[in-house]
Amino acid sequence: MIGKQSRMFFLISLCGLMLAILLATWGIPKIVRSQIKKNVQIDPSSQMFDKWRKLPMPLTFKIYVFNVTNAEDISAGAKPELEEIGPYVYKQYREKTILGYGENDTVEYMLKKTFVFDQQKTGSLSEDDEVTVINFTYMAALLQVQELMPGLVGMINGALGEMFTNLTDPFLRVKVKDLFFDGIHLNCVGENSALGLVCGKLKSDKPATMRPSEDGNGFYFSMFSHMNLTETGPYQMVRGTKDVQELGHIVSYKGKKVMNTWRDPYCNQLNGSDASVFPPVADSPLNRLYTFEPEVCRSLYANLVGPTTIFDMKAIYYEIAEEALAAKTANRDNKCFCRKNWSANHDGCLLMGVLNLEPCQGAPALATLPHFYLASEELLEYFAGGISPDKEKHNTYVYLDPITGVVLKGVRRLQFNIELRQINGIPQLENVRTGVFPLLWLDEGAELPPEVQQELKQSHTLLGYVEMARWILLSIAILVLLASLFKLAKSGALPMCGQHTNSVSFVLSATGNGNNKFH
Ligand SMILES: *[C@@H]1O[C@H](CO)[C@@H](O)[C@H](O)[C@H]1NC(C)=O
Ligand SMILES: *[C@@H]1O[C@H](CO)[C@@H](O)[C@H](O)[C@H]1NC(C)=O
Ligand SMILES: *[C@@H]1O[C@H](CO)[C@@H](O)[C@H](O)[C@H]1NC(C)=O
Ligand SMILES: *[C@@H]1O[C@H](CO)[C@@H](O)[C@H](O)[C@H]1NC(C)=O
Ligand SMILES: *[C@@H]1O[C@H](CO)[C@@H](O)[C@H](O)[C@H]1NC(C)=O
Ligand SMILES: *[C@@H]1O[C@H](CO)[C@@H](O)[C@H](O)[C@H]1NC(C)=O
Ligand SMILES: *[C@@H]1O[C@H](CO)[C@@H](O)[C@H](O)[C@H]1NC(C)=O
Repeated sequence: MIGKQSRMFFLISLCGLMLAILLATWGIPKIVRSQIKKNVQIDPSSQMFDKWRKLPMPLTFKIYVFNVTNAEDISAGAKPELEEIGPYVYKQYREKTILGYGENDTVEYMLKKTFVFDQQKTGSLSEDDEVTVINFTYMAALLQVQELMPGLVGMINGALGEMFTNLTDPFLRVKVKDLFFDGIHLNCVGENSALGLVCGKLKSDKPATMRPSEDGNGFYFSMFSHMNLTETGPYQMVRGTKDVQELGHIVSYKGKKVMNTWRDPYCNQLNGSDASVFPPVADSPLNRLYTFEPEVCRSLYANLVGPTTIFDMKAIYYEIAEEALAAKTANRDNKCFCRKNWSANHDGCLLMGVLNLEPCQGAPALATLPHFYLASEELLEYFAGGISPDKEKHNTYVYLDPITGVVLKGVRRLQFNIELRQINGIPQLENVRTGVFPLLWLDEGAELPPEVQQELKQSHTLLGYVEMARWILLSIAILVLLASLFKLAKSGALPMCGQHTNSVSFVLSATGNGNNKFH
């Protein structure tokens, strides 16, 4: 009678344990995962949605400009001596306009950025500061003409004389605000027929950095005004309502699923997100985190470094690696980014760390990391001073919350350069040394504001409780089972242990096994 009862008790507690195991290893994690997914997916019902659509805080957009301090000597053949000035800090607001939801779990949107100068963070510097920088448009026009019609270079230079007033050297004395946003006027009205050629090319190529002037007689050149208030896109992004691991993946840009910028399907792939969202990476962190960068027409990636902490939270840290911008000799995959010769000496990306933007932007610009960080040392030899790569200041990185994939802190840094080329027959360039000449670099950073950090921490705490509940449930089930075993043994219903054997040791060894199994 007693034996029967305790056998019953044993069976029920065994079922209880099995149920607890099922819940702890499968049921609860599944519920947690689906809750996380609900909160991170791109859907109006999700917690993250409004933050994804309109960033709750502006990004900090810092510009550092390279002031040339020995312009005259460079024209006479000296090595350039530069002085980094900055940061000039702008707030960058980002807002998305949703165009609709499409097939294959996607959302289509336009992205608008707005820049506002932040005098407080810029400190003592002012947008009216005068700097001497490489004359980007001038060099761009000459390099393009030399490439297209080598015989015409001399004639073009005459044209440029009308386009740019007072042509004395390949440098530009300019207020930083004109260089960044307001624009430098280029005149297209003149007698010279070659002038028409240059202006005609600008009109047909429509480089983003050239804004036609209101009167139609010329252009304004500026580095960033085309980004201010202009909507880019449409982007088509995976919402993650089906497979959360695909969340944020950009599947098309401007209606195209692949680019046609580069000469090979591999380089033309659209990979990764727009850096606003990433999938949760807790279970198995991706080795590479891809982002698609329309400004340089390619996907870039940061490599997994490992787990760390930031803002008192666990985080996964990713950092840009040398291989992303490596020369094709160092990374065969990059071969197709070397589409055009940018110098008589170098093809496309023969040098480490240089990306040729000509195929992308229609202007012979070269992108590198700031101060040629992770780039070929050969590039550094060109300068007499002012260039010193430093990992802390010049790398690109991101900290992700492993559970939600939210960006806790991230910085993207990029430098724009153009070749200063020695060209015979052009008085301003006859004696200069050929090399990659930096113009400016930018640092675009964001970190989670403290309120949102708090929100995230609270949800982590909640998850911690759920996790704890799992183990408590399991422990209780094991204890009950042990109690029932104990009772069973005492009642003598257990065949292999007699009344007088030491039942406690049996129980203890069973506990040991049980614990091993579940931890
Ligand atoms: C940039 O360098 C020039 C000398 O080439 C100097 O006159 C000018 O003040 C510098 N600009 C700033 C903002 O320091
Ligand atoms: C959806 O996915 C299928 C299969 O991958 C593909 O054939 C189809 O073109 C996609 N539709 C859109 C609108 O992208
Ligand atoms: C961006 O455009 C807005 C509106 O035209 C303007 O107020 C703002 O000053 C611009 N930003 C910069 C940095 O020029
Ligand atoms: C061009 O040079 C002349 C004489 O050297 C000077 O008078 C004029 O102001 C200069 N123009 C500009 C736009 O710098
Ligand atoms: C560079 O451009 C500016 C503005 O267009 C012009 O004033 C200057 O003379 C140019 N210098 C050269 C060498 O082209
Ligand atoms: C795109 O992503 C795939 C898979 O993640 C990877 O194998 C490929 O190398 C990436 N392509 C580029 C251009 O980065
Ligand atoms: C680049 O230029 C060099 C010399 O001018 C030439 O030998 C080489 O074939 C060119 N490479 C490409 C990819 O056009």
